[in-house]
Amino acid sequence: MIDGPAVTVAEFETPALLLDLDIMEANLASTAARLRERGIALRPHAKTHKSAEVARHQLDHGAAGLTVATIGEAEVFARHGFTDLFIAYPLFATGTKAARLAELARRVKLRIGVESVAGAQALAGALAGANGPAPAEVLIEIDSGQHRTGMQPAAAGELAAACRSLGLDVAGVFTHGGHGYASPGSGPGAAADEDAALWSAAKQLTGAGFDVREVSAGSTPTAAFPGSHITEERPGTYAFNDRQQLVLGSCQPGQIAVTVAATVVSTTVSGQAVIDAGSKALASDRPAWLTGHGAVPDLGGAVVMALSEHHGLVDLAGHSAPAVGTVVTVIPNHICTAVNLFDRYTLVRSGQPAGTWPIEARGHLS
Ligand SMILES: Cc1ncc(COP(=O)(O)O)c(C=O)c1O
Repeated sequence: MIDGPAVTVAEFETPALLLDLDIMEANLASTAARLRERGIALRPHAKTHKSAEVARHQLDHGAAGLTVATIGEAEVFARHGFTDLFIAYPLFATGTKAARLAELARRVKLRIGVESVAGAQALAGALAGANGPAPAEVLIEIDSGQHRTGMQPAAAGELAAACRSLGLDVAGVFTHGGHGYASPGSGPGAAADEDAALWSAAKQLTGAGFDVREVSAGSTPTAAFPGSHITEERPGTYAFNDRQQLVLGSCQPGQIAVTVAATVVSTTVSGQAVIDAGSKALASDRPAWLTGHGAVPDLGGAVVMALSEHHGLVDLAGHSAPAVGTVVTVIPNHICTAVNLFDRYTLVRSGQPAGTWPIEARGHLS
């Protein structure tokens, strides 16, 4: 059975995104302390929370800056006073995106991911800008085993040299060991792969005459096992955790900071309760090794087995049917995609309502 945060809040409309501040703060503090002890900088990925308030808490706990995935997310955080941003994504910035990027680079300290010559050429053009050159650093993206994006380490020196000849300032290398999500227990191996691939790439850069100032790794399953060459970690989900992280073994039940509160609207079908949180509240990400779309601790860990847009079908698995009108909390499979569906967090502290925070950067996909 999976436990969730104890919530006694009753005064909100469902579905609602509940954020337990005590648990979040403990999550932020423990990861920050662990990395500080190792002398590794923490640059949390803000795509998880998309919230200026959560980001402020992360900086208060010593984060060096923020990671984001899109220019739009970077613009939102820049508008809220965040001045050190890494767009850890192989942007292809042309047209209006090029103009936005140049404008952003003039306002904040900006790092941008690069993993192709074409992307580097577009980036150099964007930063040259119509209003004169805009300052930014680039990090070469390395494929450490996820096989999503990134250069093979052996090719990193060549791309870095191409960046230099385009006038780009290469500050180092980065990777996302996303294969730490392959199955429970994959985290330590993926972390070792991150370290080995980044070190091999960093040596290529050093050999080509570069001063490698950053070796940046990051995901929640791997950030607990940083290798000896890593200078910066970029976990995002660690702030909130979710059902995936529980099953992967990356967090404990008491570390789930965000849940979706939902009302039971039907128990007509025997063995089933229907809640008012469907795919438009829980999102529908589901890795092959996980059954269903969320766990319901209040119902003995029953699982949301099917989703319509506004209906979640909970298999009660022998648990007695709750009364229609009962409010339950659901631990979504993947909290980042669920957060992006809501306008605000409903805050909880010590089981009591504590206001709301807006999710300013929800959407902002480009
Ligand atoms: C490039 C990059 N860095 C960091 C992260 C953060 O990883 P996690 O969500 O496992 O915390 C992600 C997640 O997708 C990512 O794509």
